[in-house]
Amino acid sequence: MSLLQVLDDYQNEALQVISQCGELSEIEEARIRFLGKKKGRLKEIQTQLSTAKPEERPLLGKRFNEAKNAVEASLNARKDELAKPAKQIAGLDVTLPGTAFPLGKRHPISKTISEFKEIAGRLGFDVADGPEVEDDYHNFVALNIPDDHPARDPLDNFYLSVAQEGAGGPWLLRSQTSTVQIRVMEQVPPPVRIVSTGRVYRPDTIDATHSCMFHQMEGLYIDKHVTMSNLKTTLKMIATQYLGDDIAIRFRPSFFPFTEPSVEVDIQWGENWMEVGGAGMVDPNVLKAVGYDPEEVSGFAFGLGIERLCMKRYGVKDIRLLYENDLRFLSQF
Ligand code: DAH
Repeated sequence: MSLLQVLDDYQNEALQVISQCGELSEIEEARIRFLGKKKGRLKEIQTQLSTAKPEERPLLGKRFNEAKNAVEASLNARKDELAKPAKQIAGLDVTLPGTAFPLGKRHPISKTISEFKEIAGRLGFDVADGPEVEDDYHNFVALNIPDDHPARDPLDNFYLSVAQEGAGGPWLLRSQTSTVQIRVMEQVPPPVRIVSTGRVYRPDTIDATHSCMFHQMEGLYIDKHVTMSNLKTTLKMIATQYLGDDIAIRFRPSFFPFTEPSVEVDIQWGENWMEVGGAGMVDPNVLKAVGYDPEEVSGFAFGLGIERLCMKRYGVKDIRLLYENDLRFLSQF
């Protein structure tokens, strides 16, 4: 075989082997095998070249260099390819910026609820829960709301058409979280210090500050010697913790069947005041309904509208925005 043929075979074989190298260690093996200074194939060929006739040497020398360069270049190229393996996948450039992963956010109402529970927790309140489908007894009767009270009007409540007369009377979607006061006091003896957050339902006409479904945080504190000033301090602390020290809060005498005396709680809303809840000293009739002794214990209760406080905090002007699930709105929180 001529030496030119030997060089061609050498190059072809080397390029073939290199193209099949799948790992950097194989590249190194190929380098030693084909270019190794001591025992490499090229070293062997170089020795053979010394036997060539003088007139053949320039051509063979040129071809020798070409083969050597080709093998070196091929080794380097394959090494680079292996160093960036993902680039080998057709059509995929891993250096391009990726598609943003749509990370969700918590809804402002959920955030407000968490914060309220946190604040109440720091004031020593446990968290309780109650059902959204309630019976007449827990929504009205035990809360001292008489049969003829306008709050029980079927037009002002979502009575369930499947409602049966069960032990607790007809069922409805609860119109207030005050129901949980009763459910908790039925279960545990005093003292009680709980908050409960959740949805309530009323067939109100929907506008910027009203919705047929909204959230409340109920609070109940029953113990010996609980006073109205404890109530005011608690509400003031919740309001300032959530809205900041500057928030103005006002208590207006009012009436609720389950508290005596009762107040409505307002916060400053621009030039005006906005009602954000009701509160008062738990009526002895409510305590009696759950088997507590009104001579022994007293307490306060409050119910705050979560949406309105949340709107105040974040400057939301229309309650409907909170329910429309418009990502342009929600992603701002
Ligand atoms: N349940 C009342 C409402 O939804 C708010 C309320 C008033 C809750 C006085 C209370 C309370 O706990 O003591 O309008």
